[in-house]
Amino acid sequence: MDPMPSRHAPVGQVTRGTTGTNRLRRIDRWIARHPSLRRAADPLVVDLGYGASGVTPLELWSRLHRVRPDVEVLGLEIDPARVARADKQLAAVRAGTTSFPSAARVSFAPGGFEVPIAAGRRPAVIRAMNVLRQYDESAVPAAWASMAARLAPGGLLVEGTCDELGRICTWVALDAAAQPTTLTVSLRLASLERPSIAAERLPKALIHRNVPGEPVHAFLSALDAEWERASAVSPFGPVHRWETSLRAMDAAGWPLLQRARRRLGEVTVAWAAVAPAS
Ligand SMILES: C[S@@+](CC[C@H](N)C(=O)[O-])C[C@H]1O[C@@H](n2cnc3c(N)ncnc32)[C@H](O)[C@@H]1O
Repeated sequence: MDPMPSRHAPVGQVTRGTTGTNRLRRIDRWIARHPSLRRAADPLVVDLGYGASGVTPLELWSRLHRVRPDVEVLGLEIDPARVARADKQLAAVRAGTTSFPSAARVSFAPGGFEVPIAAGRRPAVIRAMNVLRQYDESAVPAAWASMAARLAPGGLLVEGTCDELGRICTWVALDAAAQPTTLTVSLRLASLERPSIAAERLPKALIHRNVPGEPVHAFLSALDAEWERASAVSPFGPVHRWETSLRAMDAAGWPLLQRARRRLGEVTVAWAAVAPAS
């Protein structure tokens, strides 16, 4: 699809382009279940800041296509050289020489937080993973506001951070008014020592807030404590231990959501419970 022609430079800055195959699978699957995609009148999804390769937009399309066959993914990148590289990859996809279907509805274009899109279309979902990590914390509100302003009514902005292999992931969900609604932490349970390992991969808005007195610190500390307490059920496996920990968090009054996804190693909490204290 065509980006909106712009006379202005894309909003933002070029940062390291680290990415990788399957790195964002946990977020892809979470978006695939989200009503903002499932009920979208126009299922256009933007992968903003896809990095040195176009692989994550292609994987995002593959996973979303299973639930919305009409989904279309637009990869936006502020670095024109990375757009050129992704376009070459796309030519290989179209030629049928990759594992992706040649007709995959994916395209790439230059763009930044202004999210340029032609023909008045508005995305149902914008995903920006590992983009704000390299910005200053003070840049977050303006970036959120700029991206969210482009969303369709009822749209979803997903902004977060993960490790290189996608085993430790966290993301904030925001609505079209740029209001954060939830924080999700998604972990590989098989090798998990402590849930607070997520602290080093928190979204930019929270990563500097993991200190005593801040709600997100209280949340991760409580998760650690319940994970430790649930070690007695470890013989039944890490999923059982995780679910036991989260039931204890429920009982303690933490506003946890999306119970059906717990067995995947996820926990979603209402933003109000983890938002920065000031
Ligand atoms: C670390 S890579 C992340 C790649 C991919 N999203 C992932 O998580 O694997 C960050 C990318 O975001 C791009 N970027 C940074 N600011 C941007 C902006 N305002 N608009 C679009 N892309 C941006 C950088 O150029 C870089 O390629």
